[in-house]
Amino acid sequence: MAKHQFGGDWTTDKLERLRKYLCAYMTIFTRNPKAQYFTTIYVDAFAGTGHRVGPTRRGDKSAAASETADPEAESFRKGSARIALEVGPSFHRFIFIERDAGRVAELEALRDEFPTKAVQIEQGDANAFLKQWCKQTDWKKHRAVVFLDPYGMQVDWATLDSLAKTKAVDLWLLFPLGVAVNRLLTKAGPPPEEWANALTRIFGTKDWEQAFYPKKEEETLFGAEESQRKDATLEAIGCFFVNRLKTIFVKVADNPLPLINSTNTPIYLLCFAAGAPKGSGTAVKIAQDILKQ
Ligand SMILES: C[S@@+](CC[C@H](N)C(=O)[O-])C[C@H]1O[C@@H](n2cnc3c(N)ncnc32)[C@H](O)[C@@H]1O
Repeated sequence: MAKHQFGGDWTTDKLERLRKYLCAYMTIFTRNPKAQYFTTIYVDAFAGTGHRVGPTRRGDKSAAASETADPEAESFRKGSARIALEVGPSFHRFIFIERDAGRVAELEALRDEFPTKAVQIEQGDANAFLKQWCKQTDWKKHRAVVFLDPYGMQVDWATLDSLAKTKAVDLWLLFPLGVAVNRLLTKAGPPPEEWANALTRIFGTKDWEQAFYPKKEEETLFGAEESQRKDATLEAIGCFFVNRLKTIFVKVADNPLPLINSTNTPIYLLCFAAGAPKGSGTAVKIAQDILKQ
């Protein structure tokens, strides 16, 4: 089995919160007579392998530590795909998307462990697949939870827009706050064109420039000059993104969770948005409880 090493304690935390939501979601869809009508789908669009090799104790990243045979530590190393497959009551269908061929092979081996489950595995780009899938699915009959867990800036706003337009998708999304977005927002002035384009792609608007680089008049030796320095805290960047989600989803959790690394930097923001007009209030209430620190 190839090693898929990522994350730290915050990864365990993130996946445990996702698991709680999937359990709550499927309990509702199994018990509620109206919800029973729908076919439920879990989509993992950056699926990885279904397992992960991570530190077993805070700060302990040695291979030996990650290979411990302690069954409790073992269970902490499940990846999102396996966690979703183990949720009961079960989703009716699962879609795992993964770009890397080796990881796709691991997902296929994972699928073999669950012969009774309907698991579709797609090798390719998550954005391209999801946009097509949103168009092709009959949303009168289906409801879905989509988990977007990229390493960095891979999720395009246009993909989020497609998911929101289904009015049938609940979204868990890892926004790359400190790991990427804050780094592209250069301090001295607006970033170079390539970085600016990447920011526009992730925010779905150019308004970030005005929000994070307000134009100010500054007195210099030669009179008043216009300056445009970065004026954006991590909190402000997170708020800006959550407000953007609110423009397309029915309801969005107001308390996204900063995932903090060992140097106390919020590298990601775990966000939740509900797309179905009916049930979005309950969905966001459950998600907000799960997101509480
Ligand atoms: C952080 S890992 C996902 C971990 C997984 N959610 C888990 O808990 O086990 C991100 C994965 O996304 C894959 N990936 C990167 N870019 C992608 C893209 N554009 N489309 C699909 N998969 C992609 C990587 O190969 C990697 O396996």
